[in-house]
Amino acid sequence: MKKISFFTKKDVGMGRLLFISLVLVLGWTQSATAARLDSWISQQRIMAEEQILANISPADGRPGAVLASPSRRDPDYYYHWVRDAALVMDIWMRQLEGRITLKSDRLESEQLIWDFVEFTKINQASPSISYLGEPKYYVDGQAYLGPWGRPQNDGPALRASLFIRFANHLLLSGGEGVVGRALWPVIAKDLNYVGQQITQPSFDLWEEVKGDHFYTRLTMRAALRSGATLAQRLGDNAGAAWLQTQADIVESLLSQHVDHGRQLIVENINRVEGANYKSGFDTATILAVLHTREQAIVSWFDPRLENTVRLLEHRFHEIYPINKNYPALGVAFGRYSEDVYYNGNPWFLTTLAVAEFYYLRGEIAKGDQYMERVRFHVARDGHMSEQMDRHSGYMLSAADLTWSYAAFLTAVAARDVALSKRK
Ligand code: NOJ
Ligand code: NOJ
Repeated sequence: MKKISFFTKKDVGMGRLLFISLVLVLGWTQSATAARLDSWISQQRIMAEEQILANISPADGRPGAVLASPSRRDPDYYYHWVRDAALVMDIWMRQLEGRITLKSDRLESEQLIWDFVEFTKINQASPSISYLGEPKYYVDGQAYLGPWGRPQNDGPALRASLFIRFANHLLLSGGEGVVGRALWPVIAKDLNYVGQQITQPSFDLWEEVKGDHFYTRLTMRAALRSGATLAQRLGDNAGAAWLQTQADIVESLLSQHVDHGRQLIVENINRVEGANYKSGFDTATILAVLHTREQAIVSWFDPRLENTVRLLEHRFHEIYPINKNYPALGVAFGRYSEDVYYNGNPWFLTTLAVAEFYYLRGEIAKGDQYMERVRFHVARDGHMSEQMDRHSGYMLSAADLTWSYAAFLTAVAARDVALSKRK
Protein backbone atom coordinates (compact mmCIF):
# COMPACT_ATOMS: atom_id res chain seq x y z
CA MET A 1 0.00 0.00 0.00
CA LYS A 2 1.19 3.43 -0.88
CA LYS A 3 2.18 5.41 2.14
CA ILE A 4 0.13 8.51 2.58
CA SER A 5 2.35 11.39 3.34
CA PHE A 6 2.02 15.13 3.34
CA PHE A 7 5.29 15.29 1.48
CA THR A 8 6.40 13.79 -1.76
CA LYS A 9 9.78 12.16 -1.68
CA LYS A 10 11.71 15.16 -2.86
CA ASP A 11 9.93 17.39 -0.36
CA VAL A 12 11.05 15.37 2.64
CA GLY A 13 14.17 17.41 3.20
CA MET A 14 12.15 20.59 3.07
CA GLY A 15 9.51 19.17 5.40
CA ARG A 16 12.10 18.09 7.90
CA LEU A 17 13.63 21.50 7.80
CA LEU A 18 10.26 23.14 8.34
CA PHE A 19 9.55 20.76 11.20
CA ILE A 20 12.87 21.37 12.83
CA SER A 21 12.50 25.13 12.58
CA LEU A 22 8.99 24.90 14.01
CA VAL A 23 10.31 22.93 16.97
CA LEU A 24 13.11 25.42 17.39
CA VAL A 25 10.77 28.41 17.25
CA LEU A 26 8.31 26.84 19.69
CA GLY A 27 11.09 25.87 22.03
CA TRP A 28 12.55 29.31 21.80
CA THR A 29 9.20 30.99 22.52
CA GLN A 30 8.68 28.73 25.46
CA SER A 31 12.06 29.34 26.96
CA ALA A 32 11.69 33.05 26.25
CA THR A 33 8.44 33.01 28.22
CA ALA A 34 10.14 31.13 31.05
CA ALA A 35 13.04 33.57 30.99
CA ARG A 36 10.62 36.50 31.15
CA LEU A 37 8.92 34.96 34.17
CA ASP A 38 12.28 34.31 35.84
CA SER A 39 13.46 37.86 35.35
CA TRP A 40 10.15 39.28 36.57
CA ILE A 41 10.35 37.07 39.66
CA SER A 42 13.86 38.19 40.46
CA GLN A 43 12.87 41.87 40.27
CA GLN A 44 9.64 41.30 42.09
CA ARG A 45 11.27 39.52 45.01
CA ILE A 46 13.41 42.57 45.72
CA MET A 47 10.36 44.77 45.44
CA ALA A 48 8.33 42.51 47.74
CA GLU A 49 10.94 42.56 50.47
CA GLU A 50 11.29 46.34 50.27
CA GLN A 51 7.55 46.86 50.40
CA ILE A 52 7.17 44.61 53.43
CA LEU A 53 9.95 46.46 55.24
CA ALA A 54 8.28 49.78 54.39
CA ASN A 55 5.13 48.57 56.18
CA ILE A 56 6.87 47.45 59.38
CA SER A 57 7.53 49.71 62.38
CA PRO A 58 5.90 52.84 60.86
CA ALA A 59 7.27 56.21 62.01
CA ASP A 60 4.04 57.03 63.87
CA GLY A 61 3.92 53.69 65.66
CA ARG A 62 6.03 51.40 67.79
CA PRO A 63 8.74 49.08 66.53
CA GLY A 64 7.31 45.69 65.59
CA ALA A 65 3.96 47.02 64.39
CA VAL A 66 3.11 45.51 60.99
CA LEU A 67 0.69 47.57 58.91
CA ALA A 68 -1.77 45.40 57.01
CA SER A 69 -1.45 48.11 54.36
CA PRO A 70 -0.49 51.79 54.43
CA SER A 71 -4.01 52.58 53.17
CA ARG A 72 -5.87 54.79 55.68
CA ARG A 73 -9.23 54.85 53.94
CA ASP A 74 -11.29 52.85 51.45
CA PRO A 75 -10.32 50.59 53.08
CA ASP A 76 -8.66 51.66 56.33
CA TYR A 77 -6.01 49.01 56.89
CA TYR A 78 -3.69 51.16 58.98
CA TYR A 79 -3.64 48.62 61.82
CA HIS A 80 -1.60 45.72 63.07
CA TRP A 81 -3.69 42.63 62.42
CA VAL A 82 -2.35 39.72 64.45
CA ARG A 83 -2.90 37.21 61.65
CA ASP A 84 -1.29 39.35 58.92
CA ALA A 85 1.63 40.22 61.19
CA ALA A 86 2.39 36.59 62.02
CA LEU A 87 2.20 35.59 58.35
CA VAL A 88 4.47 38.44 57.32
CA MET A 89 7.00 37.74 60.07
CA ASP A 90 7.16 34.17 58.78
CA ILE A 91 9.36 35.56 55.99
CA TRP A 92 12.07 36.61 58.44
CA MET A 93 11.71 33.44 60.42
CA ARG A 94 12.30 31.45 57.23
CA GLN A 95 15.42 33.47 56.64
CA LEU A 96 16.76 32.40 60.06
CA GLU A 97 15.80 28.80 59.27
CA GLY A 98 17.66 29.00 55.95
CA ARG A 99 14.48 28.40 53.99
CA ILE A 100 14.34 31.59 51.95
CA THR A 101 16.81 33.91 50.27
CA LEU A 102 16.46 37.58 51.17
CA LYS A 103 18.54 40.73 50.95
CA SER A 104 18.14 41.46 54.67
CA ASP A 105 20.84 39.80 56.73
CA ARG A 106 20.16 37.41 59.57
CA LEU A 107 20.83 39.98 62.28
CA GLU A 108 18.22 42.29 60.79
CA SER A 109 15.78 39.41 60.58
CA GLU A 110 16.35 38.50 64.19
CA GLN A 111 15.85 42.10 65.28
CA LEU A 112 12.57 42.32 63.37
CA ILE A 113 11.25 39.29 65.22
CA TRP A 114 12.34 40.65 68.60
CA ASP A 115 10.52 43.89 67.79
CA PHE A 116 7.43 41.85 67.03
CA VAL A 117 7.82 40.07 70.40
CA GLU A 118 7.99 43.42 72.21
CA PHE A 119 4.99 44.75 70.31
CA THR A 120 3.07 41.59 71.18
CA LYS A 121 3.74 42.12 74.88
CA ILE A 122 2.02 45.50 74.61
CA ASN A 123 -0.91 43.92 72.73
CA GLN A 124 -1.26 41.17 75.30
CA ALA A 125 -1.41 43.68 78.15
CA SER A 126 -3.73 46.15 76.47
CA PRO A 127 -7.41 46.31 77.55
CA SER A 128 -9.51 44.66 74.83
CA ILE A 129 -12.93 43.17 74.16
CA SER A 130 -11.96 39.59 73.35
CA TYR A 131 -8.61 39.26 75.14
CA LEU A 132 -6.04 37.49 72.95
CA GLY A 133 -8.64 36.75 70.29
CA GLU A 134 -8.64 40.46 69.50
CA PRO A 135 -7.99 40.74 65.75
CA LYS A 136 -6.43 44.17 65.33
CA TYR A 137 -4.42 46.82 67.16
CA TYR A 138 -3.45 50.41 66.57
CA VAL A 139 0.16 50.99 65.62
CA ASP A 140 0.90 52.06 69.22
CA GLY A 141 -0.04 48.56 70.36
CA GLN A 142 -3.44 49.29 71.92
CA ALA A 143 -6.42 47.16 70.93
CA TYR A 144 -9.03 48.50 68.51
CA LEU A 145 -12.28 48.73 70.48
CA GLY A 146 -14.81 49.55 67.75
CA PRO A 147 -17.36 47.06 66.42
CA TRP A 148 -15.63 44.12 64.65
CA GLY A 149 -15.95 40.39 64.12
CA ARG A 150 -14.29 38.99 67.23
CA PRO A 151 -12.75 36.88 68.58
CA GLN A 152 -10.53 35.61 65.75
CA ASN A 153 -8.62 32.74 67.28
CA ASP A 154 -6.33 31.92 64.38
CA GLY A 155 -4.32 35.06 65.24
CA PRO A 156 -2.87 33.98 68.59
CA ALA A 157 -2.33 30.47 67.19
CA LEU A 158 -0.29 31.74 64.22
CA ARG A 159 1.65 34.10 66.45
CA ALA A 160 2.44 31.36 68.98
CA SER A 161 3.63 29.02 66.20
CA LEU A 162 5.93 31.71 64.88
CA PHE A 163 7.47 32.46 68.28
CA ILE A 164 7.85 28.73 68.95
CA ARG A 165 9.92 28.44 65.79
CA PHE A 166 11.94 31.43 66.95
CA ALA A 167 12.49 29.78 70.33
CA ASN A 168 13.57 26.54 68.67
CA HIS A 169 15.99 28.52 66.54
CA LEU A 170 17.50 30.29 69.57
CA LEU A 171 17.77 26.98 71.44
CA LEU A 172 20.01 25.67 68.67
CA SER A 173 22.70 28.03 69.89
CA GLY A 174 22.14 27.56 73.60
CA GLY A 175 19.54 30.27 74.14
CA GLU A 176 17.74 28.57 77.08
CA GLY A 177 18.11 31.64 79.26
CA VAL A 178 16.72 34.15 76.84
CA VAL A 179 13.95 31.83 75.65
CA GLY A 180 12.81 31.14 79.20
CA ARG A 181 12.99 34.79 80.21
CA ALA A 182 11.90 36.76 77.19
CA LEU A 183 9.99 34.44 74.89
CA TRP A 184 8.25 31.65 76.75
CA PRO A 185 6.03 33.97 78.84
CA VAL A 186 4.67 35.55 75.64
CA ILE A 187 4.18 32.17 73.96
CA ALA A 188 2.58 30.63 77.06
CA LYS A 189 -0.06 33.38 77.18
CA ASP A 190 -1.12 32.70 73.59
CA LEU A 191 -1.02 28.93 74.08
CA ASN A 192 -3.09 29.04 77.27
CA TYR A 193 -5.67 31.15 75.52
CA VAL A 194 -5.74 28.92 72.42
CA GLY A 195 -5.88 25.75 74.52
CA GLN A 196 -8.89 27.09 76.40
CA GLN A 197 -10.73 28.18 73.25
CA ILE A 198 -10.58 24.97 71.24
CA THR A 199 -14.29 24.21 71.47
CA GLN A 200 -15.45 27.83 71.25
CA PRO A 201 -16.71 29.29 67.96
CA SER A 202 -14.78 32.26 66.60
CA PHE A 203 -14.75 34.50 63.53
CA ASP A 204 -12.95 33.13 60.49
CA LEU A 205 -9.81 34.60 58.98
CA TRP A 206 -11.97 36.68 56.61
CA GLU A 207 -13.66 38.19 59.67
CA GLU A 208 -17.16 37.39 58.50
CA VAL A 209 -18.57 34.17 59.94
CA LYS A 210 -18.66 33.10 63.56
CA GLY A 211 -18.53 29.34 63.78
CA ASP A 212 -15.95 26.57 63.45
CA HIS A 213 -13.36 26.84 60.72
CA PHE A 214 -10.88 24.42 59.27
CA TYR A 215 -8.27 27.19 59.01
CA THR A 216 -8.64 28.29 62.61
CA ARG A 217 -8.66 24.74 63.89
CA LEU A 218 -5.60 23.66 61.94
CA THR A 219 -3.64 26.70 63.11
CA MET A 220 -4.70 25.93 66.70
CA ARG A 221 -3.69 22.31 66.43
CA ALA A 222 -0.27 23.29 64.97
CA ALA A 223 0.42 25.80 67.74
CA LEU A 224 -0.64 23.45 70.54
CA ARG A 225 1.34 20.53 69.22
CA SER A 226 4.58 22.44 68.63
CA GLY A 227 3.97 24.23 71.94
CA ALA A 228 3.78 20.89 73.74
CA THR A 229 7.16 19.88 72.35
CA LEU A 230 8.72 23.18 73.36
CA ALA A 231 7.21 23.05 76.88
CA GLN A 232 8.73 19.63 77.31
CA ARG A 233 12.14 20.86 76.17
CA LEU A 234 11.92 23.65 78.71
CA GLY A 235 11.09 21.15 81.45
CA ASP A 236 7.40 21.98 81.90
CA ASN A 237 6.01 18.44 81.70
CA ALA A 238 2.56 19.22 83.09
CA GLY A 239 2.15 22.10 80.66
CA ALA A 240 3.32 19.90 77.81
CA ALA A 241 0.80 17.18 78.66
CA TRP A 242 -2.10 19.64 78.76
CA LEU A 243 -1.08 21.23 75.44
CA GLN A 244 -0.83 17.82 73.81
CA THR A 245 -4.29 16.84 75.08
CA GLN A 246 -5.79 20.03 73.68
CA ALA A 247 -3.97 19.47 70.37
CA ASP A 248 -5.45 15.97 70.16
CA ILE A 249 -8.95 17.26 70.81
CA VAL A 250 -8.65 19.81 68.02
CA GLU A 251 -7.29 17.15 65.73
CA SER A 252 -10.34 14.96 66.34
CA LEU A 253 -12.64 17.93 65.61
CA LEU A 254 -11.03 18.40 62.19
CA SER A 255 -12.82 15.35 60.84
CA GLN A 256 -16.09 17.32 61.09
CA HIS A 257 -14.88 19.30 58.08
CA VAL A 258 -14.69 16.35 55.72
CA ASP A 259 -17.55 15.87 53.27
CA HIS A 260 -17.16 12.10 53.00
CA GLY A 261 -19.58 11.64 50.11
CA ARG A 262 -17.85 14.07 47.80
CA GLN A 263 -14.38 13.80 49.37
CA LEU A 264 -14.05 17.55 49.95
CA ILE A 265 -12.99 19.77 52.83
CA VAL A 266 -15.64 22.17 54.14
CA GLU A 267 -14.11 25.30 55.61
CA ASN A 268 -16.96 26.75 57.69
CA ILE A 269 -19.36 24.70 59.81
CA ASN A 270 -21.58 25.22 62.86
CA ARG A 271 -22.30 28.87 62.05
CA VAL A 272 -23.61 30.86 65.00
CA GLU A 273 -23.40 34.41 63.63
CA GLY A 274 -22.34 36.47 60.63
CA ALA A 275 -22.45 35.79 56.90
CA ASN A 276 -24.84 32.94 56.13
CA TYR A 277 -24.70 32.81 52.36
CA LYS A 278 -21.62 30.64 52.14
CA SER A 279 -21.45 27.12 50.78
CA GLY A 280 -18.42 26.59 53.02
CA PHE A 281 -15.87 25.93 50.28
CA ASP A 282 -13.12 28.45 50.62
CA THR A 283 -9.52 29.08 49.59
CA ALA A 284 -8.82 29.38 53.33
CA THR A 285 -8.56 25.59 53.30
CA ILE A 286 -5.50 25.74 51.04
CA LEU A 287 -4.05 28.53 53.16
CA ALA A 288 -4.55 26.39 56.27
CA VAL A 289 -2.28 23.70 54.90
CA LEU A 290 0.29 26.18 53.58
CA HIS A 291 0.46 28.17 56.80
CA THR A 292 0.72 25.23 59.17
CA ARG A 293 2.45 22.58 57.07
CA GLU A 294 0.50 20.00 59.02
CA GLN A 295 1.43 17.40 56.43
CA ALA A 296 0.57 14.50 58.71
CA ILE A 297 -3.04 15.68 58.75
CA VAL A 298 -3.46 16.94 55.18
CA SER A 299 -0.63 16.44 52.73
CA TRP A 300 -0.17 18.38 49.48
CA PHE A 301 -1.32 15.20 47.73
CA ASP A 302 -4.40 14.54 49.84
CA PRO A 303 -7.24 13.82 47.36
CA ARG A 304 -9.70 15.75 49.53
CA LEU A 305 -7.51 18.82 49.23
CA GLU A 306 -7.03 18.27 45.49
CA ASN A 307 -10.78 17.94 44.99
CA THR A 308 -11.39 21.11 46.95
CA VAL A 309 -8.84 23.03 44.89
CA ARG A 310 -10.43 21.74 41.69
CA LEU A 311 -13.93 22.67 42.84
CA LEU A 312 -12.82 26.20 43.75
CA GLU A 313 -10.96 26.52 40.46
CA HIS A 314 -14.08 25.60 38.56
CA ARG A 315 -16.20 28.10 40.50
CA PHE A 316 -13.74 30.97 40.17
CA HIS A 317 -13.37 30.26 36.48
CA GLU A 318 -17.13 30.49 36.07
CA ILE A 319 -17.71 33.68 38.03
CA TYR A 320 -14.75 35.92 37.20
CA PRO A 321 -14.81 37.28 33.62
CA ILE A 322 -11.03 37.85 33.66
CA ASN A 323 -10.57 34.09 33.89
CA LYS A 324 -12.53 33.59 30.68
CA ASN A 325 -10.88 36.50 28.89
CA TYR A 326 -7.35 35.24 29.46
CA PRO A 327 -7.73 31.48 29.60
CA ALA A 328 -4.05 30.75 28.98
CA LEU A 329 -3.19 32.06 32.42
CA GLY A 330 -3.89 30.18 35.64
CA VAL A 331 -7.30 30.82 37.20
CA ALA A 332 -7.39 33.91 39.41
CA PHE A 333 -8.64 32.75 42.81
CA GLY A 334 -10.78 34.70 45.24
CA ARG A 335 -11.57 33.92 48.87
CA TYR A 336 -14.81 32.02 48.17
CA SER A 337 -17.27 32.21 45.33
CA GLU A 338 -20.10 33.98 47.19
CA ASP A 339 -17.79 36.79 48.37
CA VAL A 340 -19.28 40.31 48.12
CA TYR A 341 -16.47 42.35 49.70
CA TYR A 342 -15.66 45.01 47.03
CA ASN A 343 -18.25 43.14 44.91
CA GLY A 344 -16.27 39.94 45.16
CA ASN A 345 -12.98 39.67 43.29
CA PRO A 346 -9.89 37.54 42.91
CA TRP A 347 -7.12 38.27 45.40
CA PHE A 348 -3.37 38.15 44.92
CA LEU A 349 -2.65 36.19 48.07
CA THR A 350 -5.16 33.47 47.24
CA THR A 351 -3.95 33.12 43.65
CA LEU A 352 -0.37 32.98 44.90
CA ALA A 353 -1.41 30.30 47.38
CA VAL A 354 -2.51 28.09 44.50
CA ALA A 355 0.82 28.68 42.75
CA GLU A 356 2.58 27.68 45.98
CA PHE A 357 0.38 24.60 46.33
CA TYR A 358 1.46 23.38 42.88
CA TYR A 359 5.12 24.18 43.46
CA LEU A 360 5.04 22.20 46.70
CA ARG A 361 3.71 19.28 44.71
CA GLY A 362 6.61 19.65 42.28
CA GLU A 363 4.27 20.81 39.48
CA ILE A 364 6.35 23.73 38.29
CA ALA A 365 4.60 24.34 34.96
CA LYS A 366 1.21 24.45 36.68
CA GLY A 367 2.50 26.74 39.42
CA ASP A 368 4.01 29.02 36.77
CA GLN A 369 0.61 29.47 35.13
CA TYR A 370 -0.68 30.98 38.37
CA MET A 371 2.46 33.08 38.70
CA GLU A 372 1.84 34.33 35.15
CA ARG A 373 -1.68 35.24 36.19
CA VAL A 374 -0.32 37.29 39.05
CA ARG A 375 2.32 38.88 36.84
CA PHE A 376 -0.40 39.87 34.37
CA HIS A 377 -2.37 41.82 36.99
CA VAL A 378 0.46 43.31 39.05
CA ALA A 379 1.30 46.95 38.31
CA ARG A 380 4.24 47.51 35.95
CA ASP A 381 6.24 48.99 38.82
CA GLY A 382 5.64 45.89 40.92
CA HIS A 383 3.11 47.24 43.41
CA MET A 384 0.55 44.73 44.63
CA SER A 385 -2.79 45.52 46.20
CA GLU A 386 -5.21 43.13 47.86
CA GLN A 387 -7.48 42.36 44.91
CA MET A 388 -7.91 42.57 41.14
CA ASP A 389 -11.17 43.65 39.57
CA ARG A 390 -13.09 40.62 38.34
CA HIS A 391 -14.09 42.45 35.11
CA SER A 392 -11.17 44.71 34.20
CA GLY A 393 -8.32 42.94 36.00
CA TYR A 394 -7.07 46.22 37.45
CA MET A 395 -5.86 46.25 41.02
CA LEU A 396 -8.32 47.21 43.70
CA SER A 397 -8.83 47.63 47.46
CA ALA A 398 -5.92 48.04 49.91
CA ALA A 399 -2.76 49.23 48.15
CA ASP A 400 0.54 47.50 48.96
CA LEU A 401 -1.11 44.85 51.09
CA THR A 402 1.77 43.50 53.17
CA TRP A 403 0.38 39.97 53.12
CA SER A 404 0.29 39.97 49.26
CA TYR A 405 4.06 40.46 49.20
CA ALA A 406 4.63 37.79 51.83
CA ALA A 407 2.47 35.37 49.83
CA PHE A 408 4.56 36.14 46.76
CA LEU A 409 7.82 35.40 48.60
CA THR A 410 6.67 32.08 50.04
CA ALA A 411 5.36 30.98 46.64
CA VAL A 412 8.72 31.84 45.08
CA ALA A 413 10.57 29.98 47.84
CA ALA A 414 8.51 26.88 47.02
CA ARG A 415 9.30 27.39 43.32
CA ASP A 416 13.03 27.57 44.08
CA VAL A 417 12.83 24.27 45.98
CA ALA A 418 10.89 22.60 43.17
CA LEU A 419 13.44 23.84 40.59
CA SER A 420 16.42 22.68 42.62
CA LYS A 421 14.89 19.20 43.00
CA ARG A 422 14.36 18.96 39.25
CA LYS A 423 18.03 19.62 38.48
C1 NOJ B 1 -13.69 43.93 56.56
C2 NOJ B 1 -12.97 42.62 56.60
O1 NOJ B 1 -11.64 42.85 56.79
C3 NOJ B 1 -13.22 41.83 55.36
O2 NOJ B 1 -12.57 40.59 55.40
C4 NOJ B 1 -14.70 41.62 55.23
O3 NOJ B 1 -14.96 40.91 54.04
C5 NOJ B 1 -15.43 42.95 55.26
N1 NOJ B 1 -15.06 43.71 56.41
C6 NOJ B 1 -16.92 42.74 55.19
O4 NOJ B 1 -17.39 42.13 56.36
C1 NOJ C 1 -9.35 41.48 55.29
C2 NOJ C 1 -9.02 40.02 55.26
O1 NOJ C 1 -10.20 39.31 55.05
C3 NOJ C 1 -8.37 39.58 56.54
O2 NOJ C 1 -8.02 38.24 56.44
C4 NOJ C 1 -7.17 40.42 56.82
O3 NOJ C 1 -6.64 40.06 58.08
C5 NOJ C 1 -7.50 41.90 56.82
N1 NOJ C 1 -8.21 42.26 55.61
C6 NOJ C 1 -6.25 42.76 56.91
O4 NOJ C 1 -5.43 42.52 55.82
